[in-house]
Amino acid sequence: MISTSDAIRITSQSPEQTVRLGFLLASSLLPGDCVLLRGHIGAGKTCLTKGIASGLGVQDISSVHSPSFTLINRYEGTVPVYHVDLYRLEIDSAIDDIEFEDLWNESAVILIEWPEIAVGRIPRITFQIDLVWPMLSQTEREITISASDPQRLEHLKRDIDDHFGH
Ligand SMILES: Nc1ncnc2c1ncn2[C@@H]1O[C@H](COP(=O)(O)OP(=O)(O)O)[C@@H](O)[C@H]1O
Ligand SMILES: [Mg+2]
Repeated sequence: MISTSDAIRITSQSPEQTVRLGFLLASSLLPGDCVLLRGHIGAGKTCLTKGIASGLGVQDISSVHSPSFTLINRYEGTVPVYHVDLYRLEIDSAIDDIEFEDLWNESAVILIEWPEIAVGRIPRITFQIDLVWPMLSQTEREITISASDPQRLEHLKRDIDDHFGH
């Protein structure tokens, strides 16, 4: 996992705003990148994924939902987009059964919900996004974005400052 000391911190006020943030984030993504999405149920990981998928050219984002049985969904955008949700995976050795290792050989963008169980098996992490649903709030979400490459984080920060929340 990545240190969050230089992270971008933003508050989303609505699901639409979280989708928009994802859309914006997509413009920072390249084939081969991997984004970890961390946070409890209902924090907005899948909502953010929809925005990212949309920004990567996936046409029908209503089809973007947490994979139920397969754990991995693939969408066709301008690049292939893999959406992985490891929530139902109880032990990390079960990863061997889901062709997780094969994902990394392709020029695709990989988005992983509940990555914690796969730590050590994720060969590269571009961005890590932590989503927190504050107590007593319905529609606020605190979102922290960190990156393994400080330059890419800086670039994204400028994009967000220019385009998010206006
Ligand atoms: N600011 C917000 N950002 C994202 N989702 C929000 C927000 N406010 C309310 N929600 C709601 O919270 C839920 C988030 O669900 P989802 O994205 O599936 O969460 P997760 O994948 O983290 O379990 C959705 O029902 C969404 O409408
Ligand atoms: Mg989800």
